[in-house]
Amino acid sequence: MAGAFLPLVNREHKVSITQQIFLGMRTAILSGTLEKGSRLSSWQDLSVQLGVSRGTVKRAYDLLKDHGFIVTKGRGGTWVAMALPVGPVETPPQVHAPRGLFYDFEEGPQYFQLGVPAQDQFPSKAWHGAWRRAIATEGARPQIYPDPRGLLSLRREVAGYLATARGYSCHPSQVFITSGFAGALGIVLGAMGFRGNRAFVEDPGFPRTRHALQQAGVETIAAPVDREGVRLPIGEEGARLAVITPGQQAPLGMSLSATRRAEILHWASEADAWIIEDDYAGELQLSGRALPALAADDRFGRVFHIGSFSKTLNPGLRLGFLVVPLALADMFGAFVGHLAPAGSVVAQQAVQNFMSGGHFYRHLRRMKALYARRKALLVENLCREIHPGVRCEYEGALSVRLFFPKSADDVAIAAEAQRAGLGVLPLSPWYQSHGPGKGLLLGIANVRDRTVRGKCETLSQVISSHPYA
Ligand SMILES: Cc1ncc(COP(=O)(O)O)c(C=O)c1O
Repeated sequence: MAGAFLPLVNREHKVSITQQIFLGMRTAILSGTLEKGSRLSSWQDLSVQLGVSRGTVKRAYDLLKDHGFIVTKGRGGTWVAMALPVGPVETPPQVHAPRGLFYDFEEGPQYFQLGVPAQDQFPSKAWHGAWRRAIATEGARPQIYPDPRGLLSLRREVAGYLATARGYSCHPSQVFITSGFAGALGIVLGAMGFRGNRAFVEDPGFPRTRHALQQAGVETIAAPVDREGVRLPIGEEGARLAVITPGQQAPLGMSLSATRRAEILHWASEADAWIIEDDYAGELQLSGRALPALAADDRFGRVFHIGSFSKTLNPGLRLGFLVVPLALADMFGAFVGHLAPAGSVVAQQAVQNFMSGGHFYRHLRRMKALYARRKALLVENLCREIHPGVRCEYEGALSVRLFFPKSADDVAIAAEAQRAGLGVLPLSPWYQSHGPGKGLLLGIANVRDRTVRGKCETLSQVISSHPYA
């Protein structure tokens, strides 16, 4: 339905309003803004929306009809014609989707794509039930502004989940429902006024975090990652923030060691600095029990804890949560109230229903077992296939990592593999430092018995066809 399209009208203009409506809609049709075959507002509705007389709009619609741009089907409404009149076609401007996000927004996921859940094992019945109940509740709810921090019932549920699954006790007033990790990060950066400051980021680390900080005017300082996780170059002057993945380092997978956890918390309290804990994979730790969240050890009120439903439920939900130190809860409430209120109440209610019905926990338990099996399957097949000069790592994280010699062009290899339908990612863009590691990241969530062997063979052929020594 293209009914939402409103042509601009200017009463000061010398051109008549009928003509302005006609020209505005004609341009929108020719440029593709109004798609062929889409339905338009009735002329009665449009006249109300534009605050002009019905006759004015009707004359504009008649003109559009006479020129062959629209067709009317009596009570069936008014539509953009499927066959447009030949005429000077205005080329729509080229507007690109945001770059560097790794994903095709229209299709996928591809085999080995990272960051998406298993597509075949979602508990659809329970999920649909949760939505049906959410819609029924919504229908019975008064049409008023909801709490911008998110539904209290969901914030309570999240606080309960954090206490049991992540060993972190917090009060629901510290919890904010956000548009995923990205939305939560934006809220912290804005509310804390970090623009113009410097932040430690893991090297290698999640590129979207680095780009997000830079977009928000925060200078990033690379903090190297070793076997114990990230090591902050603490002597470095002036960092007021560190954004880290203590649970499972992204992309290398190790958990932050107890010594490093203590060091980082100590640094924050001494340097009047802050930590953003990106707990993107939550308790989806495949071997053993996940360590508690870093925020659980935070005695100084310095950690912002961020969780996301993107890996555990669906990235399309755009839902996550932010937990702020208690002392900052009011300030964050005011910030989100004005600048970043939580999104759709129905979606929040559905997630709450799903959680309170016990389905979320059951789903996580099943996914942990499934992902562990799929990872083992991939490792077994990959090691059989892969070039002997390539090192394969698979401890931790929901990925398998392949490391190449430094001379390899991992971006070109990944691009070729992507053309062959494999959603692998190159490793080097995850580094901020010069002379980055080279390799590929493979997601394990959608690996299947029947297909894994063939996919590994294809990947192996792509890698072997690239000389990199
Ligand atoms: C390191 C890391 N953080 C966060 C996220 C989730 O981001 P969002 O909640 O914005 O989807 C991902 C998903 O790929 C990730 O890999």
